[in-house]
Amino acid sequence: MRQPIVLNSIRDTDYPKLIKLWEVAGNIEIRQTDTLETLANLLDRNPTCNYAAYSGSRLIGAVLAGHDGWRGYLYHLAVKPDYRERAVGTKLVRAAVSAIKCEGIQKIHCLVKHENLIAQQFWEACGFELRDELVDYSLVMI
Ligand SMILES: CC(C)(COP(=O)(O)OP(=O)(O)OC[C@H]1O[C@@H](n2cnc3c(N)ncnc32)[C@H](O)[C@@H]1OP(=O)(O)O)[C@@H](O)C(=O)NCCC(=O)NCCS
Repeated sequence: MRQPIVLNSIRDTDYPKLIKLWEVAGNIEIRQTDTLETLANLLDRNPTCNYAAYSGSRLIGAVLAGHDGWRGYLYHLAVKPDYRERAVGTKLVRAAVSAIKCEGIQKIHCLVKHENLIAQQFWEACGFELRDELVDYSLVMI
């Protein structure tokens, strides 16, 4: 029988489990910038915003989140394939959104690939609005 799903704050010691989650999830690109150090930095700056979903001792989903005082951002939301469509993603997003809102932030962004149609349906179901007038520019400094 499946164990109840519990949300916990992410700790930097979760990093190896997060990497495994992102690898099996699909549609998450693990980049050179996604290191243990950058995760620890995100958690230091946003200690209440990042959540992992556990079934017993198994990490089965997670969302990275934070804000810069101006806008909130969500990254690398993923749920293990065998736990999908059971509202785990929704619970993770609600927890992160609520934590960011508690810090006085009124707007949150997340980036989604054009071809990731399931994620687009997911974000719309969570109340996020598509901004198709925008394109994203990034500057990588390594
Ligand atoms: C996107 C993802 C996190 C959703 O997680 P999840 O726990 O399965 O989502 P939920 O069960 O909370 O679904 C909430 C809503 O999203 C939509 N949704 C979720 N999965 C869907 C699917 N396979 N097809 C269509 N709509 C879907 C539905 O509207 C659903 O509401 P409903 O259950 O009332 O129909 C998961 O599919 C995943 O890990 N995908 C791979 C990684 C990824 O793409 N991450 C997003 C990067 S931007």
